[in-house]
Amino acid sequence: MRAGRPPVSALALPTAALADGSVEVLHWWTSGGEARAVGELKAAFEAQGGTWIDSPIAGGGGDAAMTALRARVVAGNPPSAVQLKGPGIQEWAEQGALADVDDVAKAENWDAVLPPVLAAIMKYENKYVAAPVNIHRVDWIWANPAVLAKVGVTTMPTTWDEFNAIADKLKEAGITPLANGSDPWQDLTLWDVVALGVGGAEFYQKAIVQLDPAALTSDTMVKVFDQMRKMRGYVDEGFAGRSWDLATRMVMNGEAAFQIMGDWAKGEFAAAGKVPGTDYWCAPAPDQGGYILNSDSFVFFKVSGEDKVKGQKVLASLVMSPSFQETFNLAKGSIPARTDVALDKFDSCAVKSHEDLLASIGNNTLVPSLSQEMAIPRSYRGEFLDLVTQFYNTDMSSADAVKALAAGIERARAQ
Ligand code: BGC
Repeated sequence: MRAGRPPVSALALPTAALADGSVEVLHWWTSGGEARAVGELKAAFEAQGGTWIDSPIAGGGGDAAMTALRARVVAGNPPSAVQLKGPGIQEWAEQGALADVDDVAKAENWDAVLPPVLAAIMKYENKYVAAPVNIHRVDWIWANPAVLAKVGVTTMPTTWDEFNAIADKLKEAGITPLANGSDPWQDLTLWDVVALGVGGAEFYQKAIVQLDPAALTSDTMVKVFDQMRKMRGYVDEGFAGRSWDLATRMVMNGEAAFQIMGDWAKGEFAAAGKVPGTDYWCAPAPDQGGYILNSDSFVFFKVSGEDKVKGQKVLASLVMSPSFQETFNLAKGSIPARTDVALDKFDSCAVKSHEDLLASIGNNTLVPSLSQEMAIPRSYRGEFLDLVTQFYNTDMSSADAVKALAAGIERARAQ
């Protein structure tokens, strides 16, 4: 996909004349690594003469930001650019809330440099209403090798049985196997990864993307919850109120062995100066082939005023510029959304993400992330979110969870 790319040194920031546009950007990038990455965007926008109004809404996974966005739109005062993704883009577009930046996209030929799967998500009625910044992989395991060494483990698990065996060993040795926090979306992220790992990509597509009743109530789904129950047993008791980046810090500091989280966790390791392969390990979570896709994008809302409209176009061009995609993603832990940016400066985890992305596109095992709002509309995702969190925090059986999930999906369908 990246063949024939120009060397990074030949790619410069867009040469647009100094812009005096302004943008208000609503986002949820508030952790150490995230703030560093969005800081790059703000600096680049301001360097072009624009005015950046920052509207951060804390809360990993973006659920709080989406609530704030709805309130702003209802009040008739939307921000000009919003960190938003997946089917949410289409939902806002259908409500007539979005502005297109298709003139910029055409002039810069975005169609030629974006993977078709992403380009389709960014368009409404064949016009670009959003610009993608990155590709985040969700199905990763992060580990502290020094902690694993304490129980004689020298490689990453490649099956869930292996993962469970290592986790049991760690637990016996008094070490927390898995760092996780208490946000429902963190539980759903774990579940997302387990669902692909235990069920495989075909199952994931059927049960989670197509919401097929037979797949939703299958024995495989019971097995997914069984593994999720095990995961609950591997976290420490102090998880209440813990954000995802604090969970990453536990792995960094040797207070836990593993975290299962998208590669925004790598942004935290990077911000702390940690080196993959030495200070921490990354490996795809056990699976049967597959890749859970998440991609951040900026979506443009209808605003009035020449200054704001100009700001949107400048921002669109900037986030899609090759040099920005490189700088931003080096800080963010993700890989560029553009296919023509060289990965020379990226680490081994990023290279692996890119290789596996291509392989999964080739063998049809790429799946959109449920937990990160890439797969299905919010009303359906909400049913998974509530049920998985309830399961995680009670002693509900797997069989009951499967029944309740199927009933929830039916309820959402009837609405
Ligand atoms: C976003 C990432 C972000 C993470 C945690 C994900 O949904 O795609 O960019 O770092 O949430 O906040």
